[in-house]
Amino acid sequence: MKAIRLISAAAALLLGASAFAAPIDINVGKPGAPIQPTMYGIFFEDINFAADGGLYAELVKNRSFEFPQDRLQGWKAFGRVEVRDDGPFDRNPHYVRLYEPGHPHKWTGLDNEGFFGIGLKEGETYRFSVWARVPQGGRAVLRIEFINTASMGERQYFTQEHITVDSRDWTQYEVVMKAGQTDPKATLRIFLESRDVTVDLEHVSLFPTDTWMGHRNGMRKDLAQALADLHPGIFRFPGGCIVEGADLATRYNWKNSVGPVENRPLNENRWEYTFPYRFFPDYFQSYGLGFYEFFLLSEEIGSEPLPILSCGLACQFQNDSQDAHVPVAELAPYIQDALDLIEFANGSTDTKWGALRAEMGHPSPFNLKYLGIGNEQWGPEYPEHLEPFLKAIRAAHPEIKIVGTSGPDSEGDKFDYLWPEMRRLNADLVDEHFYRPYEWFLSQGARYDNYDRKGPKVFAGEYACHARGRKLNHFYASLLEAAFMTGLERNADIVHMATYAPLFAHVEGWQWRPDLIWYDNLNSFRTASWHVQELYSEFKGERVLRTTMAGASVSGAEGQDGIFASSVIDGGKVYVKVVNTAAEPRTVALNFTGLKKGQGIAPAERIRFTTNRLYEDNTIETPALIAPVRGAFSGQPATEAERVLAAGGKPTRAQLRSTDRCVEVNLAPYCFDIYVFDLK
Ligand code: AHR
Repeated sequence: MKAIRLISAAAALLLGASAFAAPIDINVGKPGAPIQPTMYGIFFEDINFAADGGLYAELVKNRSFEFPQDRLQGWKAFGRVEVRDDGPFDRNPHYVRLYEPGHPHKWTGLDNEGFFGIGLKEGETYRFSVWARVPQGGRAVLRIEFINTASMGERQYFTQEHITVDSRDWTQYEVVMKAGQTDPKATLRIFLESRDVTVDLEHVSLFPTDTWMGHRNGMRKDLAQALADLHPGIFRFPGGCIVEGADLATRYNWKNSVGPVENRPLNENRWEYTFPYRFFPDYFQSYGLGFYEFFLLSEEIGSEPLPILSCGLACQFQNDSQDAHVPVAELAPYIQDALDLIEFANGSTDTKWGALRAEMGHPSPFNLKYLGIGNEQWGPEYPEHLEPFLKAIRAAHPEIKIVGTSGPDSEGDKFDYLWPEMRRLNADLVDEHFYRPYEWFLSQGARYDNYDRKGPKVFAGEYACHARGRKLNHFYASLLEAAFMTGLERNADIVHMATYAPLFAHVEGWQWRPDLIWYDNLNSFRTASWHVQELYSEFKGERVLRTTMAGASVSGAEGQDGIFASSVIDGGKVYVKVVNTAAEPRTVALNFTGLKKGQGIAPAERIRFTTNRLYEDNTIETPALIAPVRGAFSGQPATEAERVLAAGGKPTRAQLRSTDRCVEVNLAPYCFDIYVFDLK
């Protein structure tokens, strides 16, 4: 080994090639802990216009005329329009009445601006629907148009259809419209053509017909596909801070998010005003993307659902007074919400909530196994609030695994207080959050190596590398995430789930960066961090293989030249993940130990993720600028004896007996490589 190293090192110097790092030993003889199917997943929160204006494919803003400051927010009314409040949906009572304008040359109607405009693609079809009636009878002809208000053409509309409202009773009318042109910022116009008639409109909606899985109340296809392509094992929803609310009245209330969409009451989105320097006065939650849709999406993309519910504490960042929270003695309705949610997901169709699930289209259970109680809570009030939930859920549903939290910090007082508390309460998993800078990610490769193996498991529930002074997506941050994730993988016996956060951001509507997937009204792109998540998920493997450098875990520790590594076995394949965080190329020997007699290892594929655009990322215009490259790699694994012989030496008996195999690989500067080997 030494002889070949010397020869290679001399050759490398002559050729000006990379420096050598110490060999990495991979023991394929004794596979370690199984990697949980839930290991890599996704975290969804309605932040950055992730739901309405994002994943949820509804194109009309304020479709139910319920925005509280202005019932016509998002709309421009013309002629004679009146907002009324005795509509057919008791939890969304407002609607509009359109009157004859009172002059033969005037017109009545409404324009909707959508979310940063309405994105339409030429040739694609869109389903316009509206609940309507003619309260005094007659026939109201409505002209429905897609318009370009900035058009220099003779006419503004590029698509036009008609519907006729002819019932005195509230009835849903719909028409499918084909977009005559592509427009990222179109306006929807409803134009009352008839004279001498009054018409009422409620729940005005416009969806692409081509949604994810074709669902009517569906999701934007490209965005849902970007989730499916991550093969997520776990799907956490609906947040984040949104679970808690700025106050309890605005916490995410799952019961308001199920049942007919027309009657799901509007909620204020806490991200509307969280950052006054990025203020979005029109950010509300229609709940059109609700718990039923989350469970369904989870099932369709093959992940375990992990809902997080309020524990009765409003966001502690935003509330100093204990009065903001529910006293422990008054938690019963919150606990009931948790029990009812389990019934909604898993209960028989004879139960109240199971019946609603069936009515919504899913008689079979969603097979919920995990439930989180509380988000970023801290202090003694959290365990005090959590305990009664645990007792009630455990008594009724011992099969459900409960996720508690270690608070908002990756370490420190709050963290140090809560972990022992979670152990005392026997939480099944503990949610850890870390939005941390470069240095933190570089220093945490061995974070979980010494965690207590007997207590709760870890859910790295929100994390992302946030560079100081560079708080935006870029490749180098994703590289450090990849490096850190070797430590998650190596410790798969204790780390059972990990989800990057946040997931989505609209380029015109974000409050928080970096994020995993970005989009405008027509296009989306997957960031470098998305690719890192995808690679870990795709090459998740079945069991961890002990992977060491001079006996220590390869975690970027001193003397390891900025290298991080972990390996897994997957049936007859071995995946070795190596991250070079240094600016220099490196040659490193991958040394496979523990092979059985006659067993060999053969290089199959290398996936390389690198770029010299360290501080850049993909964009709407260049969505594939930074992406992994897949290909074969050279290097025949040799036994120690073969290597000694090739170097002109004489192998020892032990070397002749050894079944170890070694292959040298060259790491580019700043690269994340996955080496795939066939074990034969
Ligand atoms: O992911 C954004 C926010 O970060 C989450 O809502 C919250 O849990 C954390 O503080």
